[in-house]
Amino acid sequence: MALACRIVAEALEELKGLVKPGVTTLELDRFVETFILDRGGAPAFKGYRGYPNSLCTSINSQVVHGIPSPHSMLEEGDIISLDLGVYYDGYYGDGAVTYPVGNISTSARKLLDVTEDALYEGIGMARPGYRISDISSTIQTYVEKKGYSVVRDFVGHGIGRSLHEEPQIPNFGPSGQGPRIKEGMTFAIEPMVNAGDYAVVIMEDKWTAVTKDGSLSAHFEHTVAVTKDGTVIMTQLKKD
Ligand code: MF3
Ligand code: CO
Repeated sequence: MALACRIVAEALEELKGLVKPGVTTLELDRFVETFILDRGGAPAFKGYRGYPNSLCTSINSQVVHGIPSPHSMLEEGDIISLDLGVYYDGYYGDGAVTYPVGNISTSARKLLDVTEDALYEGIGMARPGYRISDISSTIQTYVEKKGYSVVRDFVGHGIGRSLHEEPQIPNFGPSGQGPRIKEGMTFAIEPMVNAGDYAVVIMEDKWTAVTKDGSLSAHFEHTVAVTKDGTVIMTQLKKD
């Protein structure tokens, strides 16, 4: 799993350098698919329930599952969420980031920061003895305190030999519920945060989720492992 997750982390880091005005979302998808295959992995999303690409690219008010297209070109001031799953030698890794395209507004910057911070708040609860919904509740409380809302229609999940395993990990709800967290468990934690209301609608392509009120949305995700030495964020590159 660590190897699958490292490919996710490296790919998302490489994509950071490619995200700029004038680039199409299909170019990002093509790049990342080659990147994964070159490292002996396979794209986990391609063909998953009929999803057509390797990367999900969701711009501005798009929340998740935006489909890469040669007609969708990044513009200065956009934000773009990139969600990537990799299969490697029997195991899965899953991660997402939202990047700014060039210079973005202060309010967009704040949305990105709050969403990423909410992910880390949630990861902080992924420790032996806590329950799954302690992660959920911590994320929701943090996000709402900052004046934003958490999406209800998509959730985090267990991950390992399958991309999506039990349990579901909502980004909202009361604490103290669900399975107790134990050493050896591996989770994908992934808050999606809207600047406005939490409601989303699915577009005609049957995949792309957008905010109902047209507000901006951000998404950050890590795959983590609960170990005896603490919680390891496997989709994070080691800083040196
Ligand atoms: N966004 C989902 C997740 O992170 C994965 C979507 S898979 C797709 O768990 F193939 F449907 F895009
Ligand atoms: Co996921």
